Amino acid sequence: MNNTNYPRLAAQYGTPLYVYHQAALTAAFAAYQTAFSGCQPLVCYAVKANGNLSVIRHFAQLGSGFDTVSAGEIARVLAAGGDASKIIFSGVGKTEAEMEYALNAGIKCFNVESLPELERLNDVAGRLGKIAPISFRINPDVDAKTHPYISTGLKANKFGIAMRDAEQAYQRAASLPHIKIIGVDCHIGSQLTDLSPLIAACERLIALIDKLSAQGIALQHLDLGGGVGIVYKDEHTPDLHAYAQAVEPLLKARGLSLVLEPGRSLVGNAGVLLTRVEYVKHGEEKNFVVVDAAMNDLMRPALYQAYHAVENVSRPDAPQITADIVGPICETGDFIGKERQIGAAQGDILAIRSAGAYASSMASNYNARCRAAEVMIDEQGNSRLVRRRETMDDLLATEREYL
Ligand code: LLP
Repeated sequence: MNNTNYPRLAAQYGTPLYVYHQAALTAAFAAYQTAFSGCQPLVCYAVKANGNLSVIRHFAQLGSGFDTVSAGEIARVLAAGGDASKIIFSGVGKTEAEMEYALNAGIKCFNVESLPELERLNDVAGRLGKIAPISFRINPDVDAKTHPYISTGLKANKFGIAMRDAEQAYQRAASLPHIKIIGVDCHIGSQLTDLSPLIAACERLIALIDKLSAQGIALQHLDLGGGVGIVYKDEHTPDLHAYAQAVEPLLKARGLSLVLEPGRSLVGNAGVLLTRVEYVKHGEEKNFVVVDAAMNDLMRPALYQAYHAVENVSRPDAPQITADIVGPICETGDFIGKERQIGAAQGDILAIRSAGAYASSMASNYNARCRAAEVMIDEQGNSRLVRRRETMDDLLATEREYL
């Protein structure tokens, strides 16, 4: 990763350019497999983090399952050669059409988030003459201590079923003819830098599992949701082995299998976003490095005030100035980084780090900008295009005929 010639890739494929390192994907996946090897986990890569077909295919080849939140994501997994029987389908707003699609594909589990969703799923499955395997997403009401927009496990959040309603929900599910109960799940938030909320959530679900089992409702799996946080700057990230040590005995004692849904930690630090410096502008109060990547390519700084490290990879020793690194979009919120020490001159290539997760997958065409190309570097260091840059024709394609 460190000896990749990023300026050469920028010259070859153009900028902005997402670059992913296959070896880093493999290593991140192996870290989960190894840490949790005692309970043979099904690691279901959360496709929302990066839905590139080649990324999905790589994880599929490693034996991964997939956490999806739309029919579109399921379609991506199937198109990339993923195994339908390892797909779980999460999300608060599954439509009938999506349920039908997922049932016909033969997915492993629907992570159901409300009673109306359960009733609808039972109806749709009945109509298709199928049985829907389900888990309930329970809201364990623990504070994940992360950014409020990506914290999901509190009572005030829209996700999941409240713990106090959980037993009733399972009883209802047990009474429905086209539903098969197989598990329980939770997801308390993303970019978690503290292990204790994850363990607390697990313990609460275990208590529920014990109550259900006393009522004759036996579960096969416990799904603990997303993965651990990653280092963007100087965060302390949870140790997977410590996480595994805390949960394994609880699962083993009950014969439960483990499902995990990591996204960010499998891809985040396996990717960078390369951008070219268009202008260096000395304003009255501030300096600005205007680059050709923008909030449409990397939404995280604008949306979550997220920090992404930025380095000059074409002239690492260039004299530094303090500047805001900004994109060309007509919004003050369009920044990549603020008050950064950066050496930059027109034409330099900057690498925006930790851009493998929630970067290309959150990209848009705002300001009629073509979405960027994506490149994969294989284990031998060879690069290949895994998504071509959008063209002007792509931008106009869905509207032109209606003029
Ligand atoms: N499972 C479910 C049900 C989820 O909602 C999520 C993420 C994951 C798994 C994966 O979590 P991870 O391992 O990546 O932490 N766009 C935001 C992150 C939103 C996360 C939403 N759910 C960001 O850029 O920080």
